[in-house]
Order: sequence, then structure tokens, then C-alpha cells
Amino acid sequence: MIKVGIIGCGAIAVGRHIPAYLENADTELEAFYDPAPGRAAQLAMRYGGRAFESLEDMLMLPDLSAVSVCAPERFHRELVIAALRSKKHVLCEKPMAMNADEAEEMLLESRKNRRLLMISHNQRIYEPHWKARELLKAGCIGKPLSFRTFLSHGGPEEGIADPGERRSFYDRYAGNGGVMLSVGCHRIDLIPWMLGQKIVSVMAYLPTLDKKKSDGSPIGDEDTAMVLMRCEGGLTGMLYTGWCTYGCTDRETHIFGTEGVMKLFEDPWSVAVYKKNGEKIYYDLSSWAPKGSAGATGIVDRFVDCIVDRKEAFVTAREGVDCMKVLDAVRESDRKGAWVSIAY
Ligand SMILES: NC(=O)c1ccc[n+]([C@@H]2O[C@H](COP(=O)([O-])OP(=O)(O)OC[C@H]3O[C@@H](n4cnc5c(N)ncnc54)[C@H](O)[C@@H]3O)[C@@H](O)[C@H]2O)c1
Repeated sequence: MIKVGIIGCGAIAVGRHIPAYLENADTELEAFYDPAPGRAAQLAMRYGGRAFESLEDMLMLPDLSAVSVCAPERFHRELVIAALRSKKHVLCEKPMAMNADEAEEMLLESRKNRRLLMISHNQRIYEPHWKARELLKAGCIGKPLSFRTFLSHGGPEEGIADPGERRSFYDRYAGNGGVMLSVGCHRIDLIPWMLGQKIVSVMAYLPTLDKKKSDGSPIGDEDTAMVLMRCEGGLTGMLYTGWCTYGCTDRETHIFGTEGVMKLFEDPWSVAVYKKNGEKIYYDLSSWAPKGSAGATGIVDRFVDCIVDRKEAFVTAREGVDCMKVLDAVRESDRKGAWVSIAY
């Protein structure tokens, strides 16, 4: 039995990681840590296990062998490194860190301590993305030439029940980066994985269109991002990600190939292929859904399987670093107003 600890006991821990560990036959929830008074204790009471207000004390538990790091992104580096140095395997929520330098340090520490470091890029688990990857590999739309990928919603404050707290959300959020880091990172990880080509240069525009702090001033980071990308195999594409999509979410990706077009939809979950010869194939994947609030997205099960089978991480720390390199380049491009290349 793998004994697991939770670092950061907020929404993603409660909504996804904890239910997934509870359902996994190979894991037992052993410990919870959160610096917010009483938060870890609440979870320990609800799920069993011990609560800690000191991370060091929790990491000293000798039988604890893995942790999920579910704290805000600006703390990932220090928390992951502390856990690795205590010889724990780590599943770190996305984005891996605030920048590529931090991510490299974390990767190095996982190698030094010979422990697994996996990044929770859970969109790789999504059934339409698997299906698309498989179809693209089989050449169903010929050679992919270009793509457009969207991922946007109404903002992280939408999940907060108390509207009063929603108004001041961005006063407290400061320091975690903007929508590109928080949401865009999903697609920066997904595109190379799904299409098999690394992103080699970017041209970005990162405006703040609508989000405000409680005093009415714009938030310090972008709430919208538009990024043009060139990939190593000649593929080109664009990403739109934002926190200003009110009333619905937008998760569409369209891929344009030499033999046709592939469209990935959210509503209903499906993949549609339109071939140059007029053939149309529709894959209805509506029986699948990301179990957002009710349970796992499958990423925790992958993490546990990798520990049990002593396999490479399903999303490796190196892939996490690569994603951070692209995100750094996106910020630099927005600052300079120019294309920026990425060195791997
Ligand atoms: N994979 C996904 O689709 C997805 C979705 C939402 C959030 N996330 C990621 O999960 C992480 C947490 O997001 P959330 O929505 O649960 O936030 P949250 O604010 O609901 O919870 C964060 C928790 O971390 C605690 N915390 C703060 N500083 C800490 C520290 N130094 N050490 C330990 N705990 C600390 C807070 O007290 C809080 O309980 C972020 O990295 C976020 O980007 C991922």
C-alpha cells in the first residue's frame, strides 16, 4: 500500500486528488498539510489520516512515500524540492513552476533523489485528445499543416460560492501569473504530445481585457492570451486562452491537414474528421467526461501506476520543463513584440 500525503488542501486537492486516492486500491491517504489554520485538520477529520501545520513534520513520516502538491503555483518549486529531498515521489499540479529555471531545479532534484516527479497535465487523459492523437498518428487527415486551439472560461473566481469573495479574488491571486501560465499551459503541453512536434518559436499578445481588483484597477497579469506558434516539423498554429469567456467554456481544437480537417469538440465530447474526398467520420465520445468535481481525471491513477510499476512518469519533469520554456518565451515575446525562439 502506498501511503500518500496532500500538500495544499484547496479546491483541486478536494475535488480531484483526494477522491482519486480514495478510489485507488494501491493508495492510502496518510497525511494532509496546509498553512491555513484548520484546513488540513478538516480534511483529516473527513477522510482519516493526520493533519500537519508544519511541512517538515509531515515529510518526516517514514512510511509516507508519495505526495500531491496542490498549492498555488508560486509555491511549487519550494514544496516539490522539499518533498523530493525527503525521498517522496511527487505529483505536482500544473503549471510545474513559475518559470523554466525553477522547473530545471525541480527536475535536477528528482534525479538526484531518484524519485518520480510527474506533472499534472491532466488534459492528456481526455478521451478526445487520445482519439485525435491516435488518428493523427494513423495519418487520417494526411500531414498536419496548421491548427487553432482554444481553452477559455469565465475565470478562476467563478468557482467561489460567495460573490463578496469573488470581487476581491484577484487582490489575493496576485503573484500566481496570468491566464497563460494557469490555463494556456494545458495546451502548450498538449499540442506537442498530440501532434508530435515541439513548439520552436512563438509570437504572443497578452492583454488584460476585463479582470479587475476590488479597487477597480486592472489585475497585474493578462486575462487573455493569443499566441502564434511554429513547430519543429513545419506545423504552425494559434492558441487562444482566456478568463473572459462568460456563459460557457471554449475547448475547441481544429487541425488542418493535407487530406482533411479534424475538429475536437466539448459539447458533446467528440472528434469529427472531414476528408478531402467528402468522407465524414464522427466519433461520439459523450460517454466519457472529465470527472471534475466528483472524482479523478485519471492523472492520479497514472501517477500511482508509475510508482507501482517503476515506470517513467506519464508526464515527465522534462516535459514540464519544456512547457515552462515555451511559457517563458511567450512572456518574452509579448514584452518585445517579436517572435521568440525556444532552445531545448
Ligand atoms: N489540472 C487542472 O486542471 C487544475 C485545475 C485547477 C487548479 N489547478 C492547479 O492546482 C493548484 C491549486 O489550485 P486550487 O484551485 O486548488 O487553489 P486553492 O486556492 O483552492 O487551494 C490552494 C491551497 O493551497 C494552500 N497553500 C497556500 N500556500 C501554501 C504553501 N506554501 N504550502 C502548502 N499549501 C499552501 C492554500 O491554503 C489552499 O488551501 C494550482 O497550481 C492550480 O493551477 C489545476
